[in-house]
Amino acid sequence: MKNYKIAVLKGDGIGPEIVDEAIKVLDAVASKEGFNLEYNEYLIGGSAIDVFDNPCPDETIKGCLNSDAVLFGAIGGPKWDNVEKQKRPESGLLKLRKSLGLFANIRPAIIFDELVNASTLKPEVIKGVDLTVVRELTGGIYFGEPRYKDDNKAYNTMIYTRDEIERIAKVAFEEAMRRNKKVTSVDKANVLEVSELWREVVEEVAKNYPEVELEHMYVDNAAMQLVRNPKQFDVILTGNIFGDILSDEASMIVGSIGLLPSASIGGKVGLFEPIHGSAPDIAGQGIANPIATILSAAMMLDYLGEKAAGDKIRDAIKQVLAKGYRTKDLASFDAKEVVTTTEMGSLIAEHAAN
Ligand code: NAD
Ligand code: IPM
Ligand code: MN
Repeated sequence: MKNYKIAVLKGDGIGPEIVDEAIKVLDAVASKEGFNLEYNEYLIGGSAIDVFDNPCPDETIKGCLNSDAVLFGAIGGPKWDNVEKQKRPESGLLKLRKSLGLFANIRPAIIFDELVNASTLKPEVIKGVDLTVVRELTGGIYFGEPRYKDDNKAYNTMIYTRDEIERIAKVAFEEAMRRNKKVTSVDKANVLEVSELWREVVEEVAKNYPEVELEHMYVDNAAMQLVRNPKQFDVILTGNIFGDILSDEASMIVGSIGLLPSASIGGKVGLFEPIHGSAPDIAGQGIANPIATILSAAMMLDYLGEKAAGDKIRDAIKQVLAKGYRTKDLASFDAKEVVTTTEMGSLIAEHAAN
Protein backbone atom coordinates (compact mmCIF):
# COMPACT_ATOMS: atom_id res chain seq x y z
CA MET A 1 0.00 0.00 0.00
CA LYS A 2 1.26 3.48 -0.82
CA ASN A 3 2.38 5.42 2.23
CA TYR A 4 2.68 9.21 2.48
CA LYS A 5 4.50 11.00 5.27
CA ILE A 6 2.58 14.05 6.42
CA ALA A 7 4.10 16.67 8.71
CA VAL A 8 1.29 18.03 10.87
CA LEU A 9 1.72 21.56 12.26
CA LYS A 10 -1.41 22.34 14.26
CA GLY A 11 -0.25 25.65 15.72
CA ASP A 12 -2.33 27.85 18.00
CA GLY A 13 -5.90 28.95 18.73
CA ILE A 14 -8.35 27.03 16.56
CA GLY A 15 -5.40 25.37 14.74
CA PRO A 16 -5.55 22.06 16.64
CA GLU A 17 -9.38 21.94 16.48
CA ILE A 18 -9.56 22.30 12.70
CA VAL A 19 -6.54 20.13 11.87
CA ASP A 20 -7.98 17.26 13.92
CA GLU A 21 -11.11 17.36 11.74
CA ALA A 22 -9.06 17.40 8.55
CA ILE A 23 -7.16 14.31 9.75
CA LYS A 24 -10.45 12.57 10.53
CA VAL A 25 -11.58 13.18 6.94
CA LEU A 26 -8.20 12.23 5.44
CA ASP A 27 -8.26 8.92 7.30
CA ALA A 28 -11.78 8.21 6.07
CA VAL A 29 -10.77 8.55 2.40
CA ALA A 30 -7.30 7.01 2.71
CA SER A 31 -8.57 3.60 3.77
CA LYS A 32 -11.21 3.66 1.02
CA GLU A 33 -8.78 4.73 -1.71
CA GLY A 34 -6.09 2.29 -0.65
CA PHE A 35 -3.27 4.44 0.64
CA ASN A 36 -1.87 5.16 4.06
CA LEU A 37 -1.07 8.50 5.69
CA GLU A 38 1.61 8.58 8.37
CA TYR A 39 1.41 11.70 10.52
CA ASN A 40 4.26 13.30 12.44
CA GLU A 41 3.49 16.36 14.56
CA TYR A 42 5.83 19.33 14.94
CA LEU A 43 5.49 22.56 16.88
CA ILE A 44 5.11 25.96 15.20
CA GLY A 45 4.09 29.46 16.27
CA GLY A 46 3.11 30.26 19.85
CA SER A 47 3.07 26.64 20.93
CA ALA A 48 6.70 26.33 19.77
CA ILE A 49 7.65 29.55 21.57
CA ASP A 50 6.26 28.11 24.79
CA VAL A 51 8.43 24.99 24.52
CA PHE A 52 11.55 26.07 22.59
CA ASP A 53 11.49 29.88 22.88
CA ASN A 54 11.51 29.76 19.06
CA PRO A 55 8.42 30.04 16.78
CA CYS A 56 9.99 27.85 14.07
CA PRO A 57 12.48 25.34 15.52
CA ASP A 58 14.98 23.59 13.21
CA GLU A 59 13.36 20.28 14.12
CA THR A 60 10.10 21.52 12.57
CA ILE A 61 11.79 22.57 9.33
CA LYS A 62 13.67 19.25 9.15
CA GLY A 63 10.47 17.32 9.84
CA CYS A 64 8.72 19.13 6.98
CA LEU A 65 11.61 18.52 4.59
CA ASN A 66 11.52 14.81 5.44
CA SER A 67 7.83 14.57 4.58
CA ASP A 68 5.77 14.28 1.39
CA ALA A 69 3.53 17.20 2.39
CA VAL A 70 2.77 19.53 5.28
CA LEU A 71 -0.68 20.07 6.79
CA PHE A 72 -0.81 23.36 8.69
CA GLY A 73 -3.47 24.85 10.99
CA ALA A 74 -2.90 28.44 12.11
CA ILE A 75 -0.60 30.40 14.39
CA GLY A 76 -0.69 33.45 16.63
CA GLY A 77 -2.69 34.90 19.47
CA PRO A 78 -2.75 37.66 22.09
CA LYS A 79 -0.48 35.67 24.41
CA TRP A 80 2.45 36.26 22.03
CA ASP A 81 1.53 39.67 20.60
CA ASN A 82 4.12 41.48 22.69
CA VAL A 83 7.12 39.21 22.29
CA GLU A 84 9.99 40.64 20.25
CA LYS A 85 9.42 40.67 16.49
CA GLN A 86 11.76 37.82 15.52
CA LYS A 87 10.12 35.56 18.07
CA ARG A 88 6.51 36.27 17.15
CA PRO A 89 4.44 33.32 15.87
CA GLU A 90 3.96 35.18 12.56
CA SER A 91 7.74 35.39 12.09
CA GLY A 92 7.86 31.63 12.58
CA LEU A 93 5.38 31.07 9.76
CA LEU A 94 7.29 33.42 7.45
CA LYS A 95 10.56 31.63 8.27
CA LEU A 96 8.93 28.27 7.54
CA ARG A 97 7.62 29.43 4.13
CA LYS A 98 11.02 30.89 3.25
CA SER A 99 13.00 27.86 4.47
CA LEU A 100 10.81 25.50 2.46
CA GLY A 101 11.03 27.70 -0.66
CA LEU A 102 7.25 28.05 -0.90
CA PHE A 103 7.12 31.06 -3.21
CA ALA A 104 3.68 30.37 -4.69
CA ASN A 105 0.48 30.44 -2.66
CA ILE A 106 -2.66 29.33 -4.46
CA ARG A 107 -5.92 30.38 -2.83
CA PRO A 108 -9.03 29.22 -4.70
CA ALA A 109 -12.35 30.91 -3.95
CA ILE A 110 -15.05 28.71 -5.40
CA ILE A 111 -18.64 29.10 -4.33
CA PHE A 112 -20.59 26.01 -3.39
CA ASP A 113 -24.05 26.26 -5.04
CA GLU A 114 -25.39 25.13 -1.67
CA LEU A 115 -24.06 28.37 -0.11
CA VAL A 116 -25.16 31.05 -2.58
CA ASN A 117 -27.52 32.38 0.05
CA ALA A 118 -24.85 32.32 2.74
CA SER A 119 -22.77 35.20 1.46
CA THR A 120 -23.33 38.78 2.51
CA LEU A 121 -23.41 39.55 -1.24
CA LYS A 122 -26.41 39.04 -3.50
CA PRO A 123 -26.88 35.52 -4.96
CA GLU A 124 -26.92 36.80 -8.57
CA VAL A 125 -23.53 38.47 -8.02
CA ILE A 126 -21.81 35.42 -6.61
CA LYS A 127 -23.47 32.33 -8.13
CA GLY A 128 -20.84 30.63 -10.25
CA VAL A 129 -17.81 32.42 -8.80
CA ASP A 130 -14.69 30.35 -9.47
CA LEU A 131 -11.52 32.35 -9.09
CA THR A 132 -8.09 31.70 -7.69
CA VAL A 133 -5.57 34.07 -6.18
CA VAL A 134 -1.94 33.28 -7.00
CA ARG A 135 -0.05 35.13 -4.30
CA GLU A 136 3.74 35.53 -4.26
CA LEU A 137 4.72 34.26 -0.80
CA THR A 138 8.42 34.63 -0.06
CA GLY A 139 9.23 38.14 -1.27
CA GLY A 140 7.85 41.66 -1.47
CA ILE A 141 7.42 43.97 1.49
CA TYR A 142 7.17 41.04 3.90
CA PHE A 143 10.83 40.18 3.42
CA GLY A 144 12.41 43.30 1.87
CA GLU A 145 15.53 44.83 3.44
CA PRO A 146 16.20 47.32 4.84
CA ARG A 147 13.49 47.37 7.47
CA TYR A 148 13.65 49.53 10.56
CA LYS A 149 11.79 51.01 13.49
CA ASP A 150 12.64 53.48 16.22
CA ASP A 151 10.38 55.75 18.25
CA ASN A 152 10.13 58.41 15.54
CA LYS A 153 10.57 56.60 12.28
CA ALA A 154 9.87 53.22 10.74
CA TYR A 155 10.11 51.73 7.27
CA ASN A 156 9.87 48.59 5.19
CA THR A 157 11.04 47.91 1.67
CA MET A 158 8.93 46.48 -1.11
CA ILE A 159 11.33 44.68 -3.40
CA TYR A 160 10.89 42.19 -6.23
CA THR A 161 13.56 40.86 -8.56
CA ARG A 162 12.93 39.87 -12.17
CA ASP A 163 13.42 36.18 -11.29
CA GLU A 164 10.91 36.30 -8.44
CA ILE A 165 8.26 37.91 -10.66
CA GLU A 166 8.96 35.56 -13.54
CA ARG A 167 8.53 32.37 -11.52
CA ILE A 168 5.27 33.43 -9.83
CA ALA A 169 3.88 34.69 -13.15
CA LYS A 170 4.60 31.29 -14.70
CA VAL A 171 2.63 29.59 -11.91
CA ALA A 172 -0.32 31.91 -12.59
CA PHE A 173 -0.28 31.35 -16.36
CA GLU A 174 0.02 27.58 -15.91
CA GLU A 175 -2.93 27.74 -13.52
CA ALA A 176 -4.90 29.77 -16.11
CA MET A 177 -4.14 27.16 -18.79
CA ARG A 178 -5.81 24.53 -16.60
CA ARG A 179 -8.73 26.89 -15.89
CA ASN A 180 -10.47 29.62 -17.89
CA LYS A 181 -7.40 31.16 -19.54
CA LYS A 182 -7.50 34.62 -18.04
CA VAL A 183 -4.92 36.28 -15.79
CA THR A 184 -5.59 39.55 -13.97
CA SER A 185 -2.28 40.87 -12.68
CA VAL A 186 -2.87 43.19 -9.72
CA ASP A 187 -0.36 45.89 -8.82
CA LYS A 188 0.04 49.59 -8.02
CA ALA A 189 2.06 50.53 -11.11
CA ASN A 190 0.67 54.08 -11.11
CA VAL A 191 2.69 54.76 -7.96
CA LEU A 192 5.30 52.06 -7.25
CA GLU A 193 8.46 51.31 -9.26
CA VAL A 194 8.34 47.73 -8.00
CA SER A 195 4.95 47.40 -9.70
CA GLU A 196 6.32 48.86 -12.94
CA LEU A 197 8.87 46.05 -13.10
CA TRP A 198 6.16 43.58 -12.08
CA ARG A 199 4.07 44.64 -15.12
CA GLU A 200 6.99 44.48 -17.54
CA VAL A 201 7.99 40.98 -16.47
CA VAL A 202 4.40 39.69 -16.44
CA GLU A 203 4.00 41.00 -20.02
CA GLU A 204 7.12 39.08 -21.06
CA VAL A 205 5.96 35.83 -19.45
CA ALA A 206 2.55 36.26 -21.09
CA LYS A 207 4.17 35.98 -24.54
CA ASN A 208 4.72 32.28 -23.86
CA TYR A 209 1.00 31.81 -23.22
CA PRO A 210 -0.76 33.29 -26.27
CA GLU A 211 -4.00 31.50 -25.39
CA VAL A 212 -4.25 33.29 -22.06
CA GLU A 213 -5.86 36.71 -21.89
CA LEU A 214 -3.85 39.08 -19.67
CA GLU A 215 -5.17 42.22 -18.05
CA HIS A 216 -3.55 44.53 -15.51
CA MET A 217 -5.51 46.10 -12.69
CA TYR A 218 -4.58 48.50 -9.91
CA VAL A 219 -5.07 46.99 -6.49
CA ASP A 220 -7.56 49.60 -5.30
CA ASN A 221 -9.75 48.94 -8.32
CA ALA A 222 -9.32 45.16 -7.87
CA ALA A 223 -10.61 45.41 -4.29
CA MET A 224 -13.68 47.20 -5.59
CA GLN A 225 -14.21 44.93 -8.64
CA LEU A 226 -14.07 41.83 -6.43
CA VAL A 227 -17.30 42.78 -4.69
CA ARG A 228 -18.86 44.53 -7.71
CA ASN A 229 -18.52 41.61 -10.11
CA PRO A 230 -16.35 38.73 -8.87
CA LYS A 231 -17.27 36.55 -11.86
CA GLN A 232 -15.01 38.64 -14.13
CA PHE A 233 -11.96 37.01 -12.49
CA ASP A 234 -10.28 33.71 -13.27
CA VAL A 235 -6.68 33.87 -11.98
CA ILE A 236 -5.60 36.87 -9.92
CA LEU A 237 -1.80 37.15 -9.97
CA THR A 238 -0.33 39.42 -7.33
CA GLY A 239 2.41 40.09 -4.81
CA ASN A 240 2.66 39.07 -1.19
CA ILE A 241 0.79 41.83 0.63
CA PHE A 242 -1.88 42.54 -2.00
CA GLY A 243 -2.58 38.79 -2.21
CA ASP A 244 -2.93 38.55 1.55
CA ILE A 245 -5.56 41.29 1.60
CA LEU A 246 -7.48 40.35 -1.55
CA SER A 247 -7.79 36.69 -0.56
CA ASP A 248 -9.46 37.55 2.77
CA GLU A 249 -11.84 39.73 0.76
CA ALA A 250 -12.47 36.90 -1.72
CA SER A 251 -13.35 34.56 1.15
CA MET A 252 -16.42 36.61 1.99
CA ILE A 253 -17.70 36.26 -1.57
CA VAL A 254 -18.04 32.53 -0.99
CA GLY A 255 -19.59 32.94 2.45
CA SER A 256 -16.98 32.74 5.20
CA ILE A 257 -13.27 32.93 5.78
CA GLY A 258 -13.70 29.49 7.27
CA LEU A 259 -14.11 28.12 3.73
CA LEU A 260 -10.94 29.19 1.92
CA PRO A 261 -8.06 26.71 1.56
CA SER A 262 -4.59 27.23 0.17
CA ALA A 263 -1.63 25.39 -1.28
CA SER A 264 1.88 26.75 -0.92
CA ILE A 265 4.23 25.27 -3.48
CA GLY A 266 7.53 25.85 -5.24
CA GLY A 267 9.89 23.94 -2.97
CA LYS A 268 10.65 20.30 -2.28
CA VAL A 269 7.50 19.79 -0.25
CA GLY A 270 4.07 21.48 -0.48
CA LEU A 271 2.30 23.05 2.51
CA PHE A 272 -1.47 23.16 2.83
CA GLU A 273 -3.29 25.55 5.13
CA PRO A 274 -6.52 27.52 5.45
CA ILE A 275 -6.11 31.20 4.61
CA HIS A 276 -7.52 32.31 7.95
CA GLY A 277 -5.71 32.74 11.24
CA SER A 278 -5.93 31.22 14.70
CA ALA A 279 -9.21 33.05 15.50
CA PRO A 280 -8.45 33.59 19.20
CA ASP A 281 -11.92 35.10 19.66
CA ILE A 282 -13.57 31.70 19.08
CA ALA A 283 -10.79 29.25 20.03
CA GLY A 284 -11.81 26.45 22.37
CA GLN A 285 -15.54 26.96 21.80
CA GLY A 286 -16.02 24.22 19.21
CA ILE A 287 -17.56 26.61 16.70
CA ALA A 288 -14.75 27.11 14.17
CA ASN A 289 -15.53 26.08 10.62
CA PRO A 290 -13.14 23.25 9.70
CA ILE A 291 -14.01 23.28 5.96
CA ALA A 292 -11.12 25.56 4.88
CA THR A 293 -8.69 23.10 6.46
CA ILE A 294 -10.51 20.06 5.08
CA LEU A 295 -10.41 21.62 1.59
CA SER A 296 -6.69 22.29 2.13
CA ALA A 297 -6.28 18.59 2.95
CA ALA A 298 -8.08 17.79 -0.34
CA MET A 299 -5.61 20.04 -2.19
CA MET A 300 -2.83 18.13 -0.44
CA LEU A 301 -4.19 14.84 -1.79
CA ASP A 302 -4.34 16.31 -5.32
CA TYR A 303 -0.69 17.33 -4.88
CA LEU A 304 0.25 13.82 -3.74
CA GLY A 305 -1.35 12.40 -6.89
CA GLU A 306 -4.48 11.14 -5.10
CA LYS A 307 -6.94 13.31 -7.03
CA ALA A 308 -9.82 10.82 -6.72
CA ALA A 309 -9.54 11.01 -2.94
CA GLY A 310 -9.42 14.82 -3.08
CA ASP A 311 -12.59 14.80 -5.20
CA LYS A 312 -14.26 12.49 -2.69
CA ILE A 313 -13.65 15.05 0.05
CA ARG A 314 -14.97 17.96 -2.02
CA ASP A 315 -18.02 15.92 -2.93
CA ALA A 316 -18.64 14.97 0.72
CA ILE A 317 -18.54 18.65 1.72
CA LYS A 318 -21.15 19.45 -0.95
CA GLN A 319 -23.42 16.68 0.29
CA VAL A 320 -23.18 17.81 3.90
CA LEU A 321 -23.87 21.44 2.95
CA ALA A 322 -26.78 20.36 0.74
CA LYS A 323 -28.37 18.73 3.78
CA GLY A 324 -28.31 22.12 5.51
CA TYR A 325 -25.59 21.51 8.11
CA ARG A 326 -23.73 24.73 8.95
CA THR A 327 -21.14 25.81 11.49
CA LYS A 328 -21.94 28.99 13.39
CA ASP A 329 -20.14 31.34 10.95
CA LEU A 330 -22.76 30.40 8.33
CA ALA A 331 -25.66 29.71 10.66
CA SER A 332 -27.56 32.96 10.29
CA PHE A 333 -28.32 32.29 6.63
CA ASP A 334 -30.07 29.08 5.63
CA ALA A 335 -28.96 26.47 8.14
CA LYS A 336 -31.26 23.56 8.83
CA GLU A 337 -28.97 22.41 11.61
CA VAL A 338 -26.13 24.25 13.33
CA VAL A 339 -23.27 21.90 14.16
CA THR A 340 -20.00 22.10 16.07
CA THR A 341 -16.51 21.85 14.59
CA THR A 342 -16.22 18.16 15.44
CA GLU A 343 -19.73 17.35 14.24
CA MET A 344 -18.98 18.99 10.89
CA GLY A 345 -15.73 17.01 10.61
CA SER A 346 -17.49 13.75 11.43
CA LEU A 347 -20.31 14.41 8.94
CA ILE A 348 -17.83 15.09 6.14
CA ALA A 349 -15.75 12.04 7.10
CA GLU A 350 -18.85 9.80 7.06
CA HIS A 351 -19.95 11.06 3.64
CA ALA A 352 -16.40 10.79 2.27
CA ALA A 353 -16.16 7.17 3.38
CA ASN A 354 -19.26 6.15 1.39
P1 NAD B 1 -8.36 35.40 11.85
O1 NAD B 1 -8.42 34.90 10.46
O2 NAD B 1 -7.77 34.51 12.87
O3 NAD B 1 -9.83 35.80 12.34
C1 NAD B 1 -10.61 36.81 11.71
C2 NAD B 1 -12.09 36.61 12.02
O4 NAD B 1 -12.55 35.46 11.30
C3 NAD B 1 -12.36 36.31 13.50
O5 NAD B 1 -13.57 36.89 13.88
C4 NAD B 1 -12.47 34.80 13.54
O6 NAD B 1 -13.28 34.30 14.58
C5 NAD B 1 -13.06 34.48 12.17
N1 NAD B 1 -12.60 33.16 11.71
C6 NAD B 1 -11.37 32.83 11.25
N2 NAD B 1 -11.31 31.54 10.93
C7 NAD B 1 -12.52 31.01 11.17
C8 NAD B 1 -13.10 29.71 11.05
N3 NAD B 1 -12.38 28.67 10.59
N4 NAD B 1 -14.39 29.55 11.39
C9 NAD B 1 -15.13 30.58 11.84
N5 NAD B 1 -14.65 31.83 11.98
C10 NAD B 1 -13.36 32.05 11.66
O7 NAD B 1 -7.58 36.79 11.79
P2 NAD B 1 -7.16 37.81 12.96
O8 NAD B 1 -8.19 37.82 14.02
O9 NAD B 1 -6.78 39.04 12.28
O10 NAD B 1 -5.82 37.17 13.56
C11 NAD B 1 -5.78 36.31 14.70
C12 NAD B 1 -4.38 35.71 14.83
O11 NAD B 1 -4.13 34.83 13.75
C13 NAD B 1 -3.27 36.76 14.78
O12 NAD B 1 -2.28 36.38 15.69
C14 NAD B 1 -2.76 36.67 13.35
O13 NAD B 1 -1.43 37.10 13.20
C15 NAD B 1 -2.91 35.20 13.10
N6 NAD B 1 -3.05 34.81 11.69
C16 NAD B 1 -2.44 33.64 11.34
C17 NAD B 1 -2.59 33.15 10.06
C18 NAD B 1 -1.95 31.84 9.72
O14 NAD B 1 -1.63 31.08 10.60
N7 NAD B 1 -1.77 31.53 8.46
C19 NAD B 1 -3.39 33.83 9.14
C20 NAD B 1 -4.01 35.02 9.54
C21 NAD B 1 -3.85 35.50 10.82
C1 IPM C 1 -1.82 34.50 6.03
C2 IPM C 1 -1.48 35.31 7.26
C3 IPM C 1 0.03 35.52 7.34
C4 IPM C 1 0.43 36.37 6.13
C5 IPM C 1 0.55 36.15 8.64
C6 IPM C 1 0.06 35.47 9.86
C7 IPM C 1 2.07 36.18 8.65
O1 IPM C 1 -2.18 36.52 7.28
O2 IPM C 1 -1.34 33.35 5.93
O3 IPM C 1 -2.59 34.98 5.20
O4 IPM C 1 0.31 37.59 6.17
O5 IPM C 1 0.87 35.76 5.16
MN1 MN D 1 -3.72 36.63 5.77
